[in-house]
Amino acid sequence: MDAVLAKNDNSDVIAADKAHVWHHLIQHKTFETVDPRIIVEGKGLRVWDAAGKEHLDGVSGGVWTVNVGYGRETIADAVRDQLVKMNFFANTLGSVPGALFAERLISKMPGMSRVFYSNSGSEANEKVFKMVRQISKQHHGGKKSKILYRDRDYHGTTITALSAGGQGERSAHYGPFTPGFVAVPHCLEYRNQYDSAEAYGERAADAIEEVILREGPDTIGAICLETMTAGGGVIVPPEGYWERVQEICKRHQILIHLDEVVCGVGRLGTWFGYQQFGIKPDFVTMAKGVASGYAAISCTVTTEEVFDMFKDASGDPLSYFRDISTYAGCAAGPAAALENMRIIEDEDLLENTLSMGARLMENLEGLKEKHAVVGDVRGRGLFAGVELVSDRETKEPANEAKVQAVAGHCMAQGVIIGMTNRALPGFNNTLCLAPALIATADDIDHLTSSIDEALTAVFS
Ligand SMILES: Cc1ncc(COP(=O)(O)O)c(C=O)c1O
Repeated sequence: MDAVLAKNDNSDVIAADKAHVWHHLIQHKTFETVDPRIIVEGKGLRVWDAAGKEHLDGVSGGVWTVNVGYGRETIADAVRDQLVKMNFFANTLGSVPGALFAERLISKMPGMSRVFYSNSGSEANEKVFKMVRQISKQHHGGKKSKILYRDRDYHGTTITALSAGGQGERSAHYGPFTPGFVAVPHCLEYRNQYDSAEAYGERAADAIEEVILREGPDTIGAICLETMTAGGGVIVPPEGYWERVQEICKRHQILIHLDEVVCGVGRLGTWFGYQQFGIKPDFVTMAKGVASGYAAISCTVTTEEVFDMFKDASGDPLSYFRDISTYAGCAAGPAAALENMRIIEDEDLLENTLSMGARLMENLEGLKEKHAVVGDVRGRGLFAGVELVSDRETKEPANEAKVQAVAGHCMAQGVIIGMTNRALPGFNNTLCLAPALIATADDIDHLTSSIDEALTAVFS
């Protein structure tokens, strides 16, 4: 850590924060007795707080974002150079980094062809919802306007993104919601909702078709799914699931929208998570890892076939996609994204994600053997979940306060981990791990040994 920062008295910063900042996802009553934690510096996988304490960050900036790690000067340089040359022009016109990043991105996504820029994951998803609604109006006479979403998935914070959200505690108190969004069941095999334990993946996909048939296939335009559910409990799609989902969508002419806001840009060890499951999406959305948090950028990527639907009635003044986000014109986003992608490639971070991900899973399996409270471990690449239960037989979820205590114990040891947080009524019992893609074997072992100690301290 910078020695000057370490010595600085940050009490004025803390006072200003306490007096004026409304933190995200926090009950502020807490700050009447404790100070908010302020992070002042980061390098690699480590961050330092205002008290000078070092933390190993096991969740890439809290919400799985800083994929290439902290302190990347080359990204900062690329952003600076771009900003002094040309910082902003509305994306109705083009920019140099915008064009070059779109080309690089599409080169990693065979079958996809067009990139629509915006600023956040929520917004990237909203763009798809608008596209689907416009396709409905212009190509299906108003039919096929409904959008399916899945229990436990999350697609963002705006009212319409929450309307497509399968996490009850995230949306509680924020209705009424946008009409036309219909839920389908989750696909978490550990919590099998069906009578048979056979072919769970196919069964969970068939449950989607049951909803489609109930609603009427001609009413449904698209299905929006996280490739691997992240904040809803780290749900790896079961075997056979994605093949059947594709088959069903093809049969009923339903467009597939994959939310890769978390899984995209290397998190699962491939450029995109869906590339591990053989899916051919119509839309892919991404944000967080696109520029690793060095700039705000999100992308809605579509096929040429979808894009063409917005060109084919050129005489109609309302036929094109009439959507704009002001800051999609800020050139910092694609400039950072280009350099972020170069780093992932030149440092072989996809390979590292696969090998360190395997180590992480192996270590977590070891914790499952040792601690009865670990009911299930699951994950892909460098995204893993540890579901805690009070009874392995009944799978009764562990008490939420105790799960929080595990995360708190890790924090006290200087290790930051995540957990399902005010998301799923009765099921906020999964610890989440998503270290930066540069994690070393020592980092992984440090993370899991800290969880080991915390589990012992809280549950023994
Ligand atoms: C899967 C998924 N989609 C969308 C979002 C929303 O992204 P943002 O917070 O950038 O709007 C998130 C945020 O965590 C997410 O996890």
